[in-house]
Amino acid sequence: MQGCARGFDGGSCYVAQSGNCHIIGGIGCGGQMHGLVILDENDSVIRPAILWNDGRTSHETDYLNNTIGREKISGYTANIAFPGFTAPKILWLKNNEPENYAKIRKIMLPKDYLAYKLSGVHCTDFSDASGMLLLDVKNRKWSREMCEICGITEAQLPKLFESYEKVGNLKPELAAKLGLNESVVIAAGAGDNAAAAIGTGTVGNSCCNVSLGTSGTIFISSDEFRLDENNALHSFAHADGHYHLMGCMLSAASCNKWWLEDILHTKDYSGEQAAIKKLGENHVFFLPYLMGERSPWNDPFARGTFTGITMDTTRADLTQAVLEGVAFAVRDMYEFAKKTGVEVTSTKICGGGAKSELWRKMICNILNLRVEVPVSEEGPGMGAAMLAMVACGEYSSVEAAAKSIVKVAKSESPDPKLVAKYESCYQKFRVIYPALKNVFGKIGG
Ligand code: XUL
Repeated sequence: MQGCARGFDGGSCYVAQSGNCHIIGGIGCGGQMHGLVILDENDSVIRPAILWNDGRTSHETDYLNNTIGREKISGYTANIAFPGFTAPKILWLKNNEPENYAKIRKIMLPKDYLAYKLSGVHCTDFSDASGMLLLDVKNRKWSREMCEICGITEAQLPKLFESYEKVGNLKPELAAKLGLNESVVIAAGAGDNAAAAIGTGTVGNSCCNVSLGTSGTIFISSDEFRLDENNALHSFAHADGHYHLMGCMLSAASCNKWWLEDILHTKDYSGEQAAIKKLGENHVFFLPYLMGERSPWNDPFARGTFTGITMDTTRADLTQAVLEGVAFAVRDMYEFAKKTGVEVTSTKICGGGAKSELWRKMICNILNLRVEVPVSEEGPGMGAAMLAMVACGEYSSVEAAAKSIVKVAKSESPDPKLVAKYESCYQKFRVIYPALKNVFGKIGG
């Protein structure tokens, strides 16, 4: 039997070839992290999920980090509270929707709800569970202390699996409806960033992936558990059975979409980018905090800005500033990663923004890292399908699957002259947020 991975957003499958037939052998899901999905005693959804980029929990986040205390929270989970994480949302529900809170029988993450519907098993995987702020990440078990703080029991949480483990089989009634075999294996799957890391081959020690999707992330894999003492980066379990450090900015490719589609009213992305001629010389800077910011600032009140506009500023300068602002913000996260001692020389790149050659060039020279584009563009979908392959026994490990499947299509190396120019631009960019932080505090809300 031979197999291949087929990825698409949300769920992905492993297609096994048996003789001349192609049959679906396994399904793995990858999904938005941190979202609060709550089920009642009939396993019905109680209210719409509260998503990863929802900033409503600033009060609860403040309670966790400042009343309970960052040291304690970080000691229990390896992370501090960020408004998008799941535990603050549970507390928000307790404070604001006590009738819904009282009905909770199961707490799940978005992709786990799909796996539950497919298999009937209330499950999650360690990579996605890490972002709930309920997991003792280092020891890969639920944190008793965090459950107590949130007023929940372990029985209300899903069963923990490694991402590449089988959680069950496709439910017979679904198999019949979908025309699939009942032997289809459902893998635990992973949070979208860990799944993207698998799909781009970011597996093993000190491998890096940058994702330019709605959110922007930098993901650095590690054989050993690592902690960012500043807690600017998340310390999470990886889908390969090990660990990773990750920074997540809330608006990345979505900044470009907002600027082009909502403000300039165009969908001609490549036409707008073709007008950008002078890299490393822009006098305009853009802070990409359109949804507040998670990493590294943990500031739900941060806002987007253009700084440095003059009478000479052109439309192309502003478009360039948006792309560069996102790349500089990735660099901000990378600076915190370097402080932990990680050393990387290249990075994979994925997500919608990675399709732009210009944006890849900016990332390459602003980070001073070789940027590699994998053949498959479906990072998380591909990764989830690869996890299903491992769950089906097609590969002995996630690492073996990545080595055999992931190939690099093209790469871009830093140009020392451009690196130097961008270094001087970055030094200007990095003073803007600290200067405006208090202003955001005053105008935000
Ligand atoms: C990661 C995060 C986002 C979502 C996007 O921490 O919040 O990348 O997973 O789907």
